[in-house]
Amino acid sequence: MNSIAIETSGLTKVYSSSFGKRKVEALTSLSLNVSTGMIFGLLGPNGAGKTTLIKLLLGITFPTSGRANILGEDITGYKMKYKIGYLPENHKYPSYLSGGEVMQFFGKLSGMDGTELNKKIDELLELVQLAKWKKTKVKNYSKGMMQRLGLAQALLNNPELIFLDEPTDGVDPIGRKEIRDILVELKNNGKTIFLNSHLLSEVELITDRVGILNKGILLREGDVKEMTQNKEEYKISIEGNSIDKLDDEILRKASFAKMNQDYYSFKVENTQELNKILDLLRTNGIVIKEMLQQKNSLEEIFISLIKEADKEKAQ
Ligand SMILES: Nc1ncnc2c1ncn2[C@@H]1O[C@H](COP(=O)(O)OP(=O)(O)OP(=O)(O)O)[C@@H](O)[C@H]1O
Ligand SMILES: [Mg+2]
Repeated sequence: MNSIAIETSGLTKVYSSSFGKRKVEALTSLSLNVSTGMIFGLLGPNGAGKTTLIKLLLGITFPTSGRANILGEDITGYKMKYKIGYLPENHKYPSYLSGGEVMQFFGKLSGMDGTELNKKIDELLELVQLAKWKKTKVKNYSKGMMQRLGLAQALLNNPELIFLDEPTDGVDPIGRKEIRDILVELKNNGKTIFLNSHLLSEVELITDRVGILNKGILLREGDVKEMTQNKEEYKISIEGNSIDKLDDEILRKASFAKMNQDYYSFKVENTQELNKILDLLRTNGIVIKEMLQQKNSLEEIFISLIKEADKEKAQ
């Protein structure tokens, strides 16, 4: 059975400016549980409080109120820190160091040395496909290579729980896919991954659960598969003939939109209605090339939740 990796209760963070006048409530009474062995994605627009939550959990900054546990220990403790890996947002390494030297430096900070460290570095650089760039200075690394090096660095102490703040930010599609594959492999090896992101379609591909945070408030938390269930909307692709001219009660009843030259999107009440539409199309000599049932994407859920929350606040 899975145990709880992260547990927060009423976690609140208010930042005060240096003049003590302006206060920012970055996180408001956040209660969240993340089980071990999963990839959890915390989503939210810029300034939602995502980085603040990671910083609180890691003890980099302190809560104004509330509490949190990591791997069964209160965040004020330190023992669990040996079991945590962290890739910060916009991380930078000294440009004159090579990838291998960066790893040596951080490995030594984690208490490793000698052959044990050398072996670990080679193994991790292999995992993130940077082995052949080990001796190249990081100033010559691309953004994707920097993110992969950051990931390797976060894994040096063989952590059980890994915090990744925007791990694929600024990385091209191929680089992003490579990072996603590594994260899935880590999960399959029993690691728990907590990642912050605003790349929704990407998060949807690998996370088990997500939390949607807006202006410090957790709007929703849940299973990605449950959130993105199929809906009664079908994309139908037809050959040649346009269906615009068809005038029939069924077509009029069905809500449909032309997506492009030969793609139509139909919203139907149920499967019977869908079949009536298909029958109508075919009896009118329209050749159907493809039909796809549509899903609620994480992006749609995200946008509607954020809009709704902002509207409520404005009222
Ligand atoms: N050290 C600080 N002092 C004052 N305010 C801060 C500090 N750090 C963050 N904030 C404010 O707290 C809010 C949340 O910031 P945070 O960096 O946690 O957001 P985020 O969700 O990580 O955003 P992004 O997607 O841009 O990384 C913002 O309004 C930010 O300006
Ligand atoms: Mg951030």
